[in-house]
Amino acid sequence: MLLCRCLILACCAFTAVQVVVSAAKPDAYPQARGRRAVRSEAFGKTADGQQVELYTLTNANGIEVRAMTYGGIITSLKVPDRSGRMADVVLGFDTLDAYLKGHPYFGAIIGRYGNRIAKGRFTVGGRTYTLATNNGPNHLHGGNKGFDKVVWSAAPVAGQSAVAFTRTSPDGEEGYPGNLTVRVTYTLTDKNELTVDYHATTDKATPVNLTHHSYFNLAGDGAGDILGHELTIHADRYTPVDATLIPTGAIAPVQRTPFDFRTPTAIGMRIDQPDEQLKNGKGYDHNWVLTRRGAGLQPAARLTDPASGRTLEVATTEPGMQFYAGNFLDGTLTGKGGHVYKHRAGLCLETQHFPDSPNQPSFPSTILQPGLEYRSKTVFTFGVSK
Ligand code: GLA
Repeated sequence: MLLCRCLILACCAFTAVQVVVSAAKPDAYPQARGRRAVRSEAFGKTADGQQVELYTLTNANGIEVRAMTYGGIITSLKVPDRSGRMADVVLGFDTLDAYLKGHPYFGAIIGRYGNRIAKGRFTVGGRTYTLATNNGPNHLHGGNKGFDKVVWSAAPVAGQSAVAFTRTSPDGEEGYPGNLTVRVTYTLTDKNELTVDYHATTDKATPVNLTHHSYFNLAGDGAGDILGHELTIHADRYTPVDATLIPTGAIAPVQRTPFDFRTPTAIGMRIDQPDEQLKNGKGYDHNWVLTRRGAGLQPAARLTDPASGRTLEVATTEPGMQFYAGNFLDGTLTGKGGHVYKHRAGLCLETQHFPDSPNQPSFPSTILQPGLEYRSKTVFTFGVSK
C-alpha cells in the first residue's frame, strides 16, 4: 500500500519578522516579548566537537519556544496561565551537557521510526533488515543513535517565527535502507500555535514515522505530576499491546475501558486500575486510532490543567497518537532549575503512524517509496480556560 500523506498548503500573509543571530545569553531575551522574532545563539559542543545552536522563537503574545540543533530538541516552551503568568510547560535541562548524558527523548524529533518495531526486523522490497534492539527485544525510536541524538542543520524561515531543521540520514544509518532527506520545521504563530511540519524523501523504499517527543506539564516544568490534567482524545479505538509494548494487531474499542478519553477525563482517574493493558504499559503508553473525518488536519487531543487554566490542543494529519504518561520517569533525572522528574512528571502526545506498522499488514503503511514525498503536520495550540 502506498504511503498516504496529506499535503498541507499553508497560505500565510507575509509579516515582517526580525531575524537576529547573536551570541546573547538567554536572559537577554525579555525585550523580544510582544513581537515575532527568531534568534539563535551558541549552546555548546557535542563530545566530537560539533557546534550546537539554540533557536528562540517568540510571538506577539510573548509565547516563547526554544529548540536546539541537537536532536531538534525543544528545550523550553513558555506560555501564560489564566492570569497571564508564564511557565515553561516542557521537561528538559538547562545545559547541553545534561542532554548529552542521556534522557528519555525529552523534546526531541524522533526518527527514522517513532515507537517500536518488533524484534528490530522488517522486510521491504523482499529484503529483511535488522535494526538495533534498544528496548528489550524491540527497536525503539530509531535505534541507538536516532534523529534525537544527531546535530541537525538549521535555518530561520523567512517571514515567520520559524526554524527549519534539516539532515540527510545516510543509507544504512541504524540499519535502515536509503538516504533519507528530512526537514522538520517548527513555526510559532500569533494564534499561539506551534506547528511541526515534517517532510522527507528517500532513494530506497524505507519505513518512516517521524514524531515529536515533548513531555508536557501544563502546571509548569517541575510542578508535580500530570495526573490531575484532563485529557480528551478524539479516538473510538486504540491498538492494544503485548507485554513488550508491541501492538497485538487488534484495533479495539475504547468503550468501557480505561482508554476511553472521548470526554475530558483526569489522567489519574483510571491509570492505576487493574487492567491487563495498563499493566503492559505500566500506565498509559499506547497508540490511539484517531477518528478522522476527511483529509488534512484533524483534532487529535485536548489537554487542560484545571488549576492553572492552561490548555493544549493537538491537531494532526497523522492516523494515530501515542499517549505516554511518563510512566518510566522515576526521580533519577534532575532537570531545569534543579527540578527532580518524578513518576509521571510530564506526558507525551506523539502524533504518528501506528507502532510496528512495517510488520502489521493491516495498519496504514509507513513505507516511503523513492519519488514520493513524506509530509506530515501537527499543530499544538496553547490557550487558557476560565
Ligand atoms: C515512547 C514509548 C515509551 C517510552 C518513551 C520514552 O513514548 O512508547 O514506552 O519508551 O517513549 O521513555
